[in-house]
Amino acid sequence: MVIEEHDASQQDSVVSAYSGDDSDGFENSLRPTDFDGYIGQGEVKDNLKVFCQAAKNRGEALDHTLFYGPPGLGKTTLSMIIAKEMEVGLRITSGPALEKPGDLAAILTNIKEHDVLFIDEIHRLRHPVEEILYSAMEDFAIDLIVGKGPSARTMRLTVPPFTLIGATTKASMLAGPLRDRFGHVEKLRFYEPNEIQQILERSAQILEIEIEKDAAEQLARCARRTPRIANRLLRRMRDFAEIQHDGCITVAVVEQGLKSLSIDSRGLDHGDQEYLEILSRHFRGGPVGLSTIAAAIGEDENTLEDMVEPFLIREGLIQRTPRGRMLTDHGTSYGLGLFTSSEK
Ligand SMILES: Nc1ncnc2c1ncn2[C@@H]1O[C@H](COP(=O)(O)OP(=O)(O)OP(=O)(O)O)[C@@H](O)[C@H]1O
Ligand SMILES: [Mg+2]
Repeated sequence: MVIEEHDASQQDSVVSAYSGDDSDGFENSLRPTDFDGYIGQGEVKDNLKVFCQAAKNRGEALDHTLFYGPPGLGKTTLSMIIAKEMEVGLRITSGPALEKPGDLAAILTNIKEHDVLFIDEIHRLRHPVEEILYSAMEDFAIDLIVGKGPSARTMRLTVPPFTLIGATTKASMLAGPLRDRFGHVEKLRFYEPNEIQQILERSAQILEIEIEKDAAEQLARCARRTPRIANRLLRRMRDFAEIQHDGCITVAVVEQGLKSLSIDSRGLDHGDQEYLEILSRHFRGGPVGLSTIAAAIGEDENTLEDMVEPFLIREGLIQRTPRGRMLTDHGTSYGLGLFTSSEK
C-alpha cells in the first residue's frame, strides 16, 4: 500500500519533524510496543488504557479513535500499541492512498472482527471514500454502486465491527461529520525536555549507543520537544562520535555535532536562523507580510507558514499580526545574540 511522502523541502533538515525517506526502518526499530515503553502523554495514555481494558472486558471493539497533533509526536506508535494491547490485527493505510471507494471497501470486507484500521493523514481522504467510511463507522455496512448507467444498483455489504484509528496533523481540515463519528478524540502534546531525555536514553540503549547523561540532557533541549527529532539527532551524534571521537556521545561531541549541523542550543536550524535574521535586519523586526519574507529568503510562502513559523511562534520568537509578521521582544534579543555570535 502506498503511503504518500511529504514533499522534499519538508525533509531536508535534521530538525524537521516530518518523517524522511531514511527513517522508516530506523523509526520502526525504536517504536515502543506497549504503554509502559511509551514515554510521556500521561493523560492520553491513562485514558486509552481504561478504554482498551473496558472494551476488552465487554468483548467489544474499541470505539473509533482520532489522534491529532504535530508530526513526530507518536500518533502512529500509539495506534500500533493499541492494536497490540487489544490483541487484534492492524491494517495500516493513509488518506491519499485510498483513491477510490473500492480501495476502502476491499480493506473493510477483509478485516476481521475487532481489528484496528489505521488511516494516517485522514484529513486527506477523498470525498467519495469518506462517504463510504461514514456508514462503515456508524452502521458497520457499506453501500457500493455496482455497474454504470441505468443498470447501476447499490449493493449493501456488512463489515465486522472494527476500530478505526485516524491520525492527522491538521484536525481543522477534518470534515465535521467525520470528526463526530469518533468516540475518542485525543490530542498529543509536545514533550517536556526530561521526557525527551528519557526517550533518547531508551533509544540509545536499544541501538547500543553510549551516551553521557549530560549529553542526553543537552541533546534533549534541541529536539524541539519531538521524539522523532530526538531520535534523528541521536543517530547523527552517533556518526560524529564514531568517526571523529571514541564512540561515546559526550557533551563535547554534542556541541561539535550541533555546530556542524548548524543547529543552535534550542534546536533552531539554519532556516529558522535565516528567517529571524531577515526579519530583524532587513525589516527591523516587522511587521512585514509573509510574501515579502518569502521573497527575501527565496522560499515559498506555504513552506514558511507550515514548516518554519510554527516552531518560532511556539518558542515565542515571532508573532503573526494582521499587519504581518513581527519579532517579539524575546525574538529581538535572541536574534541579537544570534547575529553577534555568527559575526565573531
Ligand atoms: N512516547 C514516545 N516514547 C518513545 N518514543 C516515541 C514516543 N513517541 C514517538 N516516539 C518515537 O518517535 C518516532 C515518531 O513517532 P510516530 O511515527 O508515532 O509519530 P507520528 O505522530 O505518527 O508522526 P507523523 O505525524 O509524521 O505520522 C517513532 O520512531 C517513535 O519511536
Ligand atoms: Mg505517523
